[in-house]
Amino acid sequence: MTLRHTPLTPALGARIDGVDLARITAPEFQQLYDIWKRHHVIVMRDQQLTDAGFERFSAMLGELDPPPNQGAGRKSVPGHPNLYVVSNRKDAAGEPVGALGDGEAAWHTDMSYLERPPHASMLWAIELPRSGGDTWFAGMPAALRSMPADLAALARTLTIKHDGTYDSGGNLRKGMVANDDPTRSAGTPHPVVIVQPETGEHTLYLGRRRNAWIPGLPLAESDRLLDVIWGYATAEAVTLRHQWRLGDVVLWNNLTTMHRRDAFPPDQVRTLHRSQIKGRYVLTSPIHQEAA
Ligand SMILES: [Fe+2]
Repeated sequence: MTLRHTPLTPALGARIDGVDLARITAPEFQQLYDIWKRHHVIVMRDQQLTDAGFERFSAMLGELDPPPNQGAGRKSVPGHPNLYVVSNRKDAAGEPVGALGDGEAAWHTDMSYLERPPHASMLWAIELPRSGGDTWFAGMPAALRSMPADLAALARTLTIKHDGTYDSGGNLRKGMVANDDPTRSAGTPHPVVIVQPETGEHTLYLGRRRNAWIPGLPLAESDRLLDVIWGYATAEAVTLRHQWRLGDVVLWNNLTTMHRRDAFPPDQVRTLHRSQIKGRYVLTSPIHQEAA
C-alpha cells in the first residue's frame, strides 16, 4: 500500500494519511521513513495506539533513549521505562506525573548537550487542553539557506556550546548546579552547521539559546551573533505550527529541527507520551568533511 502525504509548509512538515501505526508493515515503514527524511516533521492523525504499540513503532526507528532528566526528574510511563510523560497532571499526593508543567517551553532541540544527541523524538497526544499547548517546529536546513552568504560562511567555521544545566521550561535539571555563566557551565560543543548524517544535507544545529556560547568569542560578541542566527532559525517562514488533536502522533528529526511549546491554562490538563531515538552520530561540520 502506498502512503499518501501532504506537505505542510515549504520549509518543513508533512501529514501522512492512510497509515495505522499499530499495524504498520515494513514496506510502509520504509515509505514513512523516506517522507520523514525529506520533510523533517511528520504528522499522523487519528491513531488508535496503546503504550506498547507506541513503543513498538518507536523502536522501528532505532534504539530508544530513556527519559531525559528534567526539572521534575525522569518521568517514565508506568510499565514503560523508555517512554516519557509530558504532562501537568498531578497524582493524589500532588506530585506531577510528567515533565514540563503548563508553561511555555522555549525553542530547543532535545538533549543537544549530549555528544551524540538523539536522532528523533516523537509525541502522542493523550489528553489535551481546550486551548493553547500548540507545538511549533522550525526547519534548520531552510533556516541555513535563508541566511546571507557571508553569515552562513561564518557560521560554518563556528562551534556552539550546548548547555545542559536547564530544561526547555527553564527549570534546573535535577542534580545540576545552577550556573548562568555559559563560558563555565556544563555543556558540549557541536558545529553550528552540521552535515545531516543520513542525507548529507547541510543544516544549522542549535540547542537552547539560554547559556549558549560560541567558544573563542567574548561573551557579548557571542551573544550578539547568536541572537542574529536565532533570528533566522526561528523566522516565521521556516516554522510550522502543530495544533494537537487526540490521537495525533508527531515525529521529528532532532538534528534538522527545533521545537517550542505554547503555554496553556493551568486549570486544564495536557498529557502526551514521548519517545526518543538514541543518537548514533557524532555531529560533523561540512568543513571537516571537506578537509578529510
Ligand atoms: Fe523538546
